[in-house]
Amino acid sequence: MTDRELMIMAEDARKRSYSPYSGFAVGAALLTQEGKVYTGCNIENASFSPTCCAERVAFFTAVSAGERKFEKIAIVGGKANVSLSAPCPPCGVCRQVMSEFCDGDFTLLLGTPDDIHSYTLADILPLSFELK
Ligand code: THU
Repeated sequence: MTDRELMIMAEDARKRSYSPYSGFAVGAALLTQEGKVYTGCNIENASFSPTCCAERVAFFTAVSAGERKFEKIAIVGGKANVSLSAPCPPCGVCRQVMSEFCDGDFTLLLGTPDDIHSYTLADILPLSFELK
């Protein structure tokens, strides 16, 4: 699985975004250490707060399937029906969820399949909350 292929899977997941309130569509493709991919899209709600981000949908789908070891995630997002341009970094809540299951070297791919920006979780979440 190349980074470009993972980004394309995130783009495909984004097509299934349910985002009638924000008009902002996000897709994510999460690669496990064993090479399996779990995707997610953002799913909004009329009551707003039940909305779930694409990244958390991907993580929770994977974890509920028994996965615990992750290598990287591709994330794409932007206004629905507009072609992707700027990177869409994950929100703080999703970063914290990633930190529950991933070490600092977990990789995030942002941008577009033709313009991939790579970060580590340590880059984007230097001081995660831990219960200790
Ligand atoms: N969203 C995500 O899916 N991931 C993020 O990391 C940030 C925001 C979604 C939530 C909501 O449906 C829309 O983008 C606008 O905030």
